[in-house]
Amino acid sequence: MKIKTSFSELIGIDYPIIGAPMFLVSYERYVIALAEAGALGTFPLPNYRTIEELQKALQIIRKATSKPVGVNIHLSGRFPWKEQLAVCLDAGVSFFISSLGNPALILPDVHANGGIVFADVIKLEQGLKARDRGVDGLIAVGAGAGGHCGSISTLVFTPYLAQKTGLPVIAAGGIATGEQMAAALAVGACGVVVGTRLIATDEAEVSMGYKEAVVAAGPEDIITTAAITGNPATWLASSIADFQEQPTLGSKKWRDLWSAGQSVAQTDAVYPIREVVQEMVTSYQRATLKLSESIVEG
Ligand SMILES: Cc1cc2nc3c(=O)[nH]c(=O)nc-3n(C[C@H](O)[C@H](O)[C@H](O)COP(=O)(O)O)c2cc1C
Repeated sequence: MKIKTSFSELIGIDYPIIGAPMFLVSYERYVIALAEAGALGTFPLPNYRTIEELQKALQIIRKATSKPVGVNIHLSGRFPWKEQLAVCLDAGVSFFISSLGNPALILPDVHANGGIVFADVIKLEQGLKARDRGVDGLIAVGAGAGGHCGSISTLVFTPYLAQKTGLPVIAAGGIATGEQMAAALAVGACGVVVGTRLIATDEAEVSMGYKEAVVAAGPEDIITTAAITGNPATWLASSIADFQEQPTLGSKKWRDLWSAGQSVAQTDAVYPIREVVQEMVTSYQRATLKLSESIVEG
């Protein structure tokens, strides 16, 4: 059984579920587990400090799976994106999430290799700009998403972006269950990004303390603040209570600042990724069946 959308067909995956690229969380094991579960595994390129480390990680991934994989590439100029891009294309990475900077920089090479580029956006203005630069689609990052988040509800922002830009839109923020995925697809998303739910998995490369805190937290324990990185992002309040100053790039101190979104509400235990994906698929089926049964003659 597959869940088919324009995105799942285009990229070649069984379910339109994208395991989010998460700084200091998503590494090889995470990507492989998602790919093998029928979803799309991704990781952010800044997780690897050198091109050699990145190359090695991609070799490990490619040894374990031939399924599609994706990356988040930063185009602000702070990272060696040209070298990173070349290594990724060599390894057959086919999905690129651009954040910061101009996605047009990578579009010709990605397209020439049969890949696609979606831009993360939190505002319509960013979506229109990315469309003008030629991206293949957008990721609507809504309020309460883990990491850098938007301020508009995901269920409002997704159809708004799709309607105003005419581009395919993937929904991100607050999606952890099949029911929530059904809601996102119902409002026009062609796929969903799942971040927070996947922190509490065997394959997330974070401490057990972080995983357990995500499981224990309710949405009331999540705060949104720009104080840590300069842009609004969501955090487990307890982990930033003693925050003094932003750690430098590459500092181990980042590991003690725990980002998570409001979908901690639907994160009830630490599971293997395969089980999280299967549970989402089963609950998606249940939800869509229940909805179709709500229509009765009369
Ligand atoms: C700990 C953490 C780190 C993240 N790091 C990144 C990142 O490096 N690059 C990126 O594009 N998005 C990053 N995100 C955002 C996710 O890609 C995604 O948009 C978000 O997690 C979706 O919302 P959800 O957490 O409610 O599922 C991060 C999210 C979390 C929770």
